[in-house]
Amino acid sequence: MNRLSGKVAIVTGGAKGFGASIAKTFVNEGAKVVITDLDVQQANVVLDELGSENAMFIEQDVADESGWENVFKKSIERFNKVDILINNAGVLQFDDAEHVELDQWHKLLAVDLDGVMLGIKYGIKNMKVNGGSIVNISSIAGLIGIPNLFSYNASKGGVRMITKSAALYCTDQNYPIRINSVHPGYAHTPMVDAYPEMRTDLEALHPMKRLADPQEIANLTLYLASDESSFSTGSEFVVDGGYTAQ
Ligand SMILES: NC(=O)c1ccc[n+]([C@@H]2O[C@H](COP(=O)([O-])OP(=O)(O)OC[C@H]3O[C@@H](n4cnc5c(N)ncnc54)[C@H](O)[C@@H]3O)[C@@H](O)[C@H]2O)c1
Repeated sequence: MNRLSGKVAIVTGGAKGFGASIAKTFVNEGAKVVITDLDVQQANVVLDELGSENAMFIEQDVADESGWENVFKKSIERFNKVDILINNAGVLQFDDAEHVELDQWHKLLAVDLDGVMLGIKYGIKNMKVNGGSIVNISSIAGLIGIPNLFSYNASKGGVRMITKSAALYCTDQNYPIRINSVHPGYAHTPMVDAYPEMRTDLEALHPMKRLADPQEIANLTLYLASDESSFSTGSEFVVDGGYTAQ
């Protein structure tokens, strides 16, 4: 119940799916949590569950650099410090290498790759003295190709590699910040449950023959956010029901 006791975490995309589950898990383990999201209404539902003494919400578009400093400033004003950043916010779109449109490609990369890049940049800036853990939510799509997820593949593969680059930069600089990526298989979140017609096919892709519960991704993220993972940095952590073992 206190694996994150005394820690302060920022979770982007905290209004739904993995982000909401991670925020609840962290509060249950003793952390104070700042959730950010574009979806104000749903964020307030999550905030009610977390309790205003444990959590706050900041409206943020992760792709907009101008908001990032404010997210850290407000978090530190409220909870005195930030120890953990979970770069979780993301969007999904279907496209392929032959028919991809440049503006759609840029739109997806703005959130799923630029958003994580900016989080890393401002995370290092604000945590380099006191230290911390940055966890970037990538995907199995950051490890293997999926023919109808061309832009998404690019973004999640990019997240995997900028995680390593930034982690090594921090060790070079003697900054006490660890940075790792998480690679989930398909899970029951609004992102995936929006396509009920795909459910059976998606389940069959996983040797465990089911999709993940968001709590199973939150559990791994908890480990990486906590001091229990003190020797892990620049690494990729897979939680996929056996998907990429095949
Ligand atoms: N669900 C899956 O099966 C799955 C698998 C692997 C990886 N992922 C990744 O996990 C992360 C969370 O996915 P999820 O399934 O919980 O998605 P979701 O759509 O259920 O929730 C994502 C949240 O991010 C928010 N968001 C979207 N764009 C944003 C922006 N520009 N700025 C701030 N917030 C924004 C949304 O409003 C939403 O609340 C994403 O990065 C996704 O790519 C999901």
